[in-house]
Amino acid sequence: MANFNTVAGCILASALFAMVVGKVSNAVVHPHKLDKPALAVADEAPTAVAAAPAAELAPIGPQLAGANVEAGKALFQKQCFTCHTADKGGANKVGPNLWDIVGRKKASHAGFSYSSAMQAKGGDWTYEDINHMILKPTAFVKGTKMAFAGLAKEKDRANVIAYLRPLADTPKPLP
Ligand code: HEC
Repeated sequence: MANFNTVAGCILASALFAMVVGKVSNAVVHPHKLDKPALAVADEAPTAVAAAPAAELAPIGPQLAGANVEAGKALFQKQCFTCHTADKGGANKVGPNLWDIVGRKKASHAGFSYSSAMQAKGGDWTYEDINHMILKPTAFVKGTKMAFAGLAKEKDRANVIAYLRPLADTPKPLP
């Protein structure tokens, strides 16, 4: 019994102590709500910074005469050939055959199923349009199914276009 009393006494003492501490700390700390939020929140959203206009792409035409066709061929085989052939009568692969691509009507190669975005683009493949296409296909034809990151270097694009130009029955003149 003595043990029981001691334990019960301890519990009671602890409970009392907790109550007292609670009261005292409330009295000392005065919790109260702030009338205003401590951090002022701006009423207006910051004015959106106007997006810088996309840098104009320099015309590729002037680069073609001095381009390196052999380097263009090697690049084509490495970067484009997985999806495109470029020989006369060559097969459509993931992408259409590119024989006679310069001056060819867009989305017109027989037997290839183009995306509706490509079909809606319109016009012929000028040197400059090919330049845009292989720089960033998804930017030039939004919704294209040409899943290719693009050739960032102007020299690479000039070389590939210079390689493709003579692959035609009647190659188009250099611009
Ligand atoms: C991952 C596959 C893939 C790669 C790599 C690729 N292409 Fe394509 N390309 C396509 C597809 C698919 C289309 C058809 C796009 C559509 O219908 O939206 C296409 C379309 C084109 C067209 C338009 C053809 C037409 O008849 O209107 C050109 C030009 C072209 N590609 C050039 C290139 C060149 C040059 C390269 C290499 C630098 C390249 N592509 C790399 C898949 C690819």
